[in-house]
Amino acid sequence: MKAKAIKIIDGVYWVGAIHWNSRTFHGYGIPGTTYNAYLVLGDEKNVLIDNVYRGMADQFYARVEDAFAQEGKDIKIDVFVQNHSEMDHSTFLRETIDKYNPDAEIYASQNCINFLESQYHNYGDLNINAVGTGDEIDIGGRTLKFVSAPMLHWPDSMFTFLAEEGILFSNDAFGQHICNSKRFDDDFSTDYLIGEAQKYYANLVTLASPMLKMKLQELTDSGLINEIKMIAPCHGQIWRDPSPIVQKYSEWANGVCKDKITIIYDTMHHSTEKLAYQIAEGIMSEDVEVKMYFMQEDGPDDVITDILDSKAIAIGAPTMMNKPFPRIGNMMYWLDCVNFKGTGSEKDALIFSSKGWGGGAVEKIQRDLEEAGFNVFDTLDVVFVPDEDVLEEAFQKGVELARSIKE
Ligand code: FEO
Repeated sequence: MKAKAIKIIDGVYWVGAIHWNSRTFHGYGIPGTTYNAYLVLGDEKNVLIDNVYRGMADQFYARVEDAFAQEGKDIKIDVFVQNHSEMDHSTFLRETIDKYNPDAEIYASQNCINFLESQYHNYGDLNINAVGTGDEIDIGGRTLKFVSAPMLHWPDSMFTFLAEEGILFSNDAFGQHICNSKRFDDDFSTDYLIGEAQKYYANLVTLASPMLKMKLQELTDSGLINEIKMIAPCHGQIWRDPSPIVQKYSEWANGVCKDKITIIYDTMHHSTEKLAYQIAEGIMSEDVEVKMYFMQEDGPDDVITDILDSKAIAIGAPTMMNKPFPRIGNMMYWLDCVNFKGTGSEKDALIFSSKGWGGGAVEKIQRDLEEAGFNVFDTLDVVFVPDEDVLEEAFQKGVELARSIKE
C-alpha cells in the first residue's frame, strides 16, 4: 500500500499507523486510535522509535519507505529504540528489524527486553542493549537521551529525548485515544484535546499517579522539563505546545479537583432515578457542577473520566436480590481498579437506593466504595417510591454534599 510520512521537523518523521475502526482499548470505548512511531535521521545513523499493532504493518512500512523517499535517500535504519513492549507498539518489531537491518543496534529498558522475549520468544539473537536514565547515543549531530519511566504505564516504559531539538518521545504518557487525519495538537482546540487526554489519563494512568508525580519532579529537578519543546506520544496528537498537557498531568497526578460532583445511578422502576434527580438539584442549588451518568446507557469509562476531577460522587442503585443492581456492581469494579486515592484526592461519596423490603444495596456499595478508597459521607435508603418528604430529604443531602466539598 501507499501511505505518506508526516514531517515533524527536518529529519524527523511520523511513520505510525491510523487504526480507524478500533473501538475498544483496555476495555474502554475509543473512536479509533493511532500507533505513533517515529523516524529520526542523524548524520551517521537513522533511528526508528517504536512500532505498531497487528493489522497495521503495511501502513507502517509504507510510511517508513515514504519518509526515505521524501529525503531522496535509500532506506537505511541503523538503530531501533523500543520505549515499551505492549503489543500495540511492538507487534512487528522483530519483523521490522529482519526486514530492514537484522544487525541493527536495538535499545530498550531491561524490563522491555525481558517482556519482548516473554511475549514473542524470538529476541535472543539480536544486538539488543539495555538502557535507562543517564544513557544516551550519538547518531551524528543528534543525541538521543533515555529516561526510565517505570509504570507509565508498564514497568518497562521509557522516554527517549532528542536533545538538540527538544522532542520527548513519551510513548503512552501524554497520549490520547483519538483518530483523525491530522497529527498535531494545533489542528484541534486545546479543550477538546485535554478532554480526550483526561479520559486516557483517568482510565489508564490514574493508578500510576504516584510514579508520575515522582517523574515530573525528577524532570523538573534535572531541568529537562524546560528543554522539552515538543511531546510526541504513541497515541493521538503530537504536542507542539507541551505546556497544557504537562500542566494537566501535574494536576491529575496531584488530585487537583473542581467543585464538581459526579452522580452515577441505575434504576428499576424510576424510584432511584427520582432520588438522583433530587440530589442533583440540591447540589446545583449550591452552584456546584453536576455530571450525571445513567448506567443503563452510559459507559464506566466516561464515568471514570469525570470522577478524576470531581471532589465527590453520589452513587445510587435499587436493591435487587439483596444486592445493588448489577450494572452498578460493574462500576464498582472499575472504581476499585483505577484507585483514585493514589492521586491524593480524598473523594466523598453519598450512597442512595430504593428498596422494596430487606435492602442490601447501600451496605454492599458502602463496603465496595470504602475498599476503593472513597469516604462515605452519607447514605439514603428509601422504601419503594419516594414521596415528597423523601424527595426533600434527597435534595438536602445533595445540598450538604455540595457544601462539604466547598469547605
Ligand atoms: Fe499504548 Fe501500553 O500501550
